[in-house]
This record gives sequence, C-alpha cells and structure tokens, in this order.
Amino acid sequence: MNEPFDAVDVIRAKRDGHELSNEQIDWVIQAYTRGIVAEEQMSALAMAIFLNGMDDREISRWTKAMIASGKRMDFKSLGKPTADKHSTGGVGDKITLPLAPLVAVFGVSVPQLSGRGLGHTGGTLDKLESIPGWKANLDEEKIMQMLGSGSGAVICAAGAELAPADKKLYALRDITGTVDCIPLIASSIMSKKIAEGTSSLVLDVKVGSGAFMKDRKMAAELARKMVTLGKDANVNTVALLTDMNTPLGLTVGNALEVRESIEVLAGGGPRDVVELTVALAREMLAGVGKTDVDVEAALKDGRAMDVWNQMIEEQGGDPHTTLPTAPARHTLVAQEDGYLTRLDALKVGVASWRLGAGRARKEDRVSPVAGIELHAKPGERIIAGAPLLTLHAEDESKFDRALESLQGAVEIESTKPELAQSVILERID
Ligand code: URA
Repeated sequence: MNEPFDAVDVIRAKRDGHELSNEQIDWVIQAYTRGIVAEEQMSALAMAIFLNGMDDREISRWTKAMIASGKRMDFKSLGKPTADKHSTGGVGDKITLPLAPLVAVFGVSVPQLSGRGLGHTGGTLDKLESIPGWKANLDEEKIMQMLGSGSGAVICAAGAELAPADKKLYALRDITGTVDCIPLIASSIMSKKIAEGTSSLVLDVKVGSGAFMKDRKMAAELARKMVTLGKDANVNTVALLTDMNTPLGLTVGNALEVRESIEVLAGGGPRDVVELTVALAREMLAGVGKTDVDVEAALKDGRAMDVWNQMIEEQGGDPHTTLPTAPARHTLVAQEDGYLTRLDALKVGVASWRLGAGRARKEDRVSPVAGIELHAKPGERIIAGAPLLTLHAEDESKFDRALESLQGAVEIESTKPELAQSVILERID
C-alpha cells in the first residue's frame, strides 16, 4: 500500500513546533495501529508532543483517530440510560467498587470498563480479583445481559478492540517518559470512554502528591479539555477535581480496599470515601436526568449492597466469602504526641506497591493481601505509641523496602492543622 505520509516528516513537523493536519493525525494513528509506523517513531512523536503540545483541534482529531482505530460499543438497545465514571488514578481509590452498584440501584446501566494498576496507583480489576473466583474478562453478550436483565452494573476489563491505538500508545508512553502530558492523557482517557458508548460521564480528576497531576491549575486544564472532548462527542460530561495528597479512606491494597468498599455498601466506611462515592453517584445520576434521588438512603438500607452481591455473583465470585488476609504484618507507631498534619499519598502508594500490591511490569502478579492500613488521618490527635500504619504482606522480606519509601510520609506537629473539610476541590462542566 502506498502511504500518503512519511512518519519522519510528521515527527519533524511536531519537533519543529508546527501543528499536525487532520490528515497527518488520522494517518499516523492508523498506520501505528497497523504496525507501519514503528514503535521508535511513535515514541519520538510522543516526545515531540510532550515538548511542544497539541492545540484543541489536534487533540480532538487525535482522540477521534484513536476511537476510529477500534470498535465502538453501543448500549442503546438496553432502553435505559448509561452512566460511567473515570478516575485519573490515586492511592486508596476504591470508589468504583461501591459507586457502580449504588448508581445501578436507580435504574441506570453502569458499564465500568476498567484497567489494571501500573506503578503506585492500584487498578480496580486487581482489587476485585482478590475475591476468589471473580472474573474480569467478559464477552460483550455477558456485559449486555448483566446491564440489561442482571444487576445493572458491571466492572470488567476493556476488550482489546476498544481504542487499540491507545493500548499500544499508552504502553509505549509508560516506558518513554511521556505519560504526564495533558494532550496525550486527555485523548487517551476520552477515546476509551467515548468508544465505550456511555451517555453520561463523570471524571474524577485527582490532584496532589499521589496523582499524575500534582498541580491544581494543570489538573483543571486537563479536566476542561476532557469535558470539552466529551461534550463534543455528545457525552454529557462533568469533572470533579479531588484531593489526592492523602490516600482515600483507611486502606490501600487489593483485598483491604474491597473490605473497606463493603463497609461503605453496608452504610458505614470512612467519611472521605462515603463523601466522594455519594458526590460522584449524584453527578452520574444528574447526568442522565435523575436529580430527585436519595443516594445515601440506598447505602443505608441495603439496596446498593444487594446490587453488589448480584454483580459479584454474576462474575463468578462469592460475595459472602472471607477475603484473604496477610500472614505478615508490621505496625508503625507514633514517636510523639501531637496532631497528624500529613500522610503522604505518593509515599504510601509506593510502599504498598513494594509490599506487593502493585506491579512493575504488565505481566507481574499482584498480591491480593498486600497493602497498608491507616489508623489515623491528617487532623487527628495522636498520642505517642499509638499505631499509625500497619503494613500487610505475604512475607516479612517485603517490609524493609516498603519502610524506606515511608521515610518522611508522616508528619506530626503540636498545633492542630487547618484542613479542608471536603476532598472535592472544584466542579468543572
Ligand atoms: N489513564 C489513561 O487511560 N491514559 C492516560 O494517558 C493516563 C491515565
């Protein structure tokens, strides 16, 4: 086949700070998916984009080209609205687990096509796989059956045919230092979400030490770009900027986070996890026109738990099983009296990863039991000798490296810190 462009010309154009034409973008994404543009050429182009950016037209076209590289799903035949949530990734972020069944209580389909964790942020599928028997890989027929006549919610792996260009490109960015680039993140996330065919989408854009975006202005810019891409594709999209300087909730790690999610579904759970779950559920429901709903009641009266139980069973898991627990534990205690002023999300995330909860390479196994339990959150009064963190692992050999990464993670001071009451920083629509 005669190619209309030469990859080197496209790379040079972006390297020299020029805009790429629609035709160049369509071609480069399509040719990369076909293997005509080589990995090393795409990595040079990704770095040129990282350094010189893309304007709104280029980002929009790049997103469309990635959607066109694969299949689009369509939930219209279900005859009910669909709502979805995407988080840019954080530490202790188990929100999808209670959120999907909670929203499904109100007659909305919730197709949560999720990913596995890489680096210090955990993946939703890794968490759920700590439930013995639970399966992440479902075919389209099963997904449609669960959404249509089953529980109404499904959390499963995104199939290989959904935005395959992004799958290849994301793996490449991960090993070429080109992940944290707003045009590439926005197009990566939104190509998958638009191809998934949801009618409404809520983006949870994390800001802080444990997030991709450390800086609030950058996070707001990313959120705005994604909201625009969603709206342009007729997906009702809003974003919440939420704090990720401290881990969410009191657990980080796979089975530990499932346990905490079940507490939330039983009407309890940590205040920040409940606050964010309820806020995101309200946004998802409002996005499909359901504003007159009592979301909290569905957590308190067991309706969300009923949907969870059914959803787990439909995917091969036993919702009443005992979750696995770690044979090795190590507790860190406070050295002094005072107030906990900081508990750094990134350091806790890296420590949990080193304990075995995350993977360094795609093919690594994750431990279902590894992770960290927090005994206190910033703002709380602490007395010397009180437990602060408990490390969980499959064996004690993991503790030294994890403890190294926790150096400086905890700060205790004599005066009570002034802390924001809410994890939600801003709403962008
Ligand atoms: N998540 C994605 O799916 N893509 C990115 O580029 C970053 C986070």
